[in-house]
Amino acid sequence: MLKNILIIGGTSGLGLELAKIYDALGHTVFITGRKDPNIHNLHFFKLSIDQNNQNLVTQIDELIRNIDKINTLIYVAGYYQEGKIDQLNDKEILEMINTGLTAPAILIQRLKNNPGKPLKVMFVTSSSQYTPRELEPIYTAVKSGLGMLGASLSLDQSIGKVLVVAPSGMKTPFWNDSHNTSGYLNPTWVAEQIVELSSGPFKYRYAKILRDPERVEIVETKQ
Ligand SMILES: NC(=O)c1ccc[n+]([C@@H]2O[C@H](COP(=O)([O-])OP(=O)(O)OC[C@H]3O[C@@H](n4cnc5c(N)ncnc54)[C@H](OP(=O)(O)O)[C@@H]3O)[C@@H](O)[C@H]2O)c1
Repeated sequence: MLKNILIIGGTSGLGLELAKIYDALGHTVFITGRKDPNIHNLHFFKLSIDQNNQNLVTQIDELIRNIDKINTLIYVAGYYQEGKIDQLNDKEILEMINTGLTAPAILIQRLKNNPGKPLKVMFVTSSSQYTPRELEPIYTAVKSGLGMLGASLSLDQSIGKVLVVAPSGMKTPFWNDSHNTSGYLNPTWVAEQIVELSSGPFKYRYAKILRDPERVEIVETKQ
């Protein structure tokens, strides 16, 4: 069945690779971010997340008003943030929490009963979901929280399949030029693994996508 797929954070890196695959499979793909990659067939909507959560809610409502129905929500948006807790200012903490948790929570709350239901949900977290890191306290917290949001949503019988994927380092614009990404995963390959992981019958699946050597480890699948 061809679907309407909304990819939050679909303008770059892993999200864009997923968008291209789903478009090539014939699905209708909507992507959000701050910069339009101007790719044929990918329907771009601007969604700029910052520390202001009222502004975020307004933008989400506007986005949903513009799309008739969503069958699948893929939440990929995220960015790197480094600093011990007292080195991060209020704006930085709030923006990371809004990007990593507030936005997906509000989106699912509004989309759960949309005309495309049962809503299929795919969350992209990180190895930071399960690895504590001194210099990434808020990033690790939101990725961990996003994983638990997915696990809890999967218990809701009115929601479709839930896939939580935790990739290790990938070669994408996530990293600035000074970061050495040699040996990091190819985002096209990661996107292919996610598409494969999302297929078949299950209610909840949690998988890690690891490197050295590159491999997929399914941690849990529930029917
Ligand atoms: N790269 C890695 O090594 C790595 C490893 C593990 C997990 N991850 C996770 O994988 C996901 C995808 O990252 P990526 O590597 O593909 O990075 P990327 O190329 O930088 O893509 C990030 C996406 O998120 C969007 N985004 C980021 N901050 C946003 C904000 N404040 N408001 C709105 N949109 C925002 C970007 O949109 P615009 O650019 O259009 O603003 C872009 O579409 C992220 O959740 C990241 O945490 C990455």
